[in-house]
Amino acid sequence: MLDRQHNLVSLLHAIKTGLESHEHQAEDQYFKNPETRLDHAEWTVKQALRQAEKALSITKRLGQLMVTLEKKQGCNSGPVSLKPIWERVIQNLQDKWASHRMSVVMRIPDEFPLIACDAGDLEEIFDLLVENSLQAAESEEIPCPKIIVRAEIGFSIQEEPLAFVTVADTGPGVSEKKLGRIFNPFFTTKPEGEGNGLGLYLVKALVAKNGGTISAASFEHCGITFTLQLPLAS
Ligand SMILES: Nc1ncnc2c1ncn2[C@@H]1O[C@H](COP(=O)(O)OP(=O)(O)OP(=O)(O)O)[C@@H](O)[C@H]1O
Ligand SMILES: [Mg+2]
Repeated sequence: MLDRQHNLVSLLHAIKTGLESHEHQAEDQYFKNPETRLDHAEWTVKQALRQAEKALSITKRLGQLMVTLEKKQGCNSGPVSLKPIWERVIQNLQDKWASHRMSVVMRIPDEFPLIACDAGDLEEIFDLLVENSLQAAESEEIPCPKIIVRAEIGFSIQEEPLAFVTVADTGPGVSEKKLGRIFNPFFTTKPEGEGNGLGLYLVKALVAKNGGTISAASFEHCGITFTLQLPLAS
């Protein structure tokens, strides 16, 4: 996997530096003849175009992210039942699921208490986590990948009961160094054009908006486990 940090500032900086460098070289008569100058100009424009497209896609994703968060400010906070939401996420992903041969293990007790969380937010949180697991398993060609979801009751440090929901996979996981960065905006290890590094940033924001927390634990080559702590409906 590649380890690259994309962000708008570095992309715009790269576009500016590339164009400026061509301009200076042309002014300094660096090119041997008009053809090499033209070739270099074409190469510079193509490079700038690719970087501008990437910057545009990030800007669009940021716009969507802001709309998503804003739209949901006035959302209700449940009560919501965990199991049907998880089942809907899996149902919606059935086509991708088949092509990935990913199996799902669900350990959510039937009588699990209701959660105080917006249903749409919870679905989006699961969607984004599952999408990452599918992409990670595919990119590393994991032979029999699994996603395991579990729900248990635990307690906060103030001894308030909370829902502990873990979403784990048996994919490639991440190194300790990367683990500390996966929730950062624009952190991605996906090839250029495939990831903006905004999925987990959105997940964290949605979990926080609903009064919860999320953490991740992983060992490279041994999968990853996300633990959500969410308030229970009273
Ligand atoms: N289940 C997972 N297994 C292995 N690595 C993961 C997993 N989930 C996230 N990651 C790592 O965390 C990075 C950040 O994830 P995030 O969802 O924020 O961005 P992305 O998937 O790269 O792009 P985007 O979600 O914006 O399309 C990923 O690029 C990947 O390196
Ligand atoms: Mg993602």
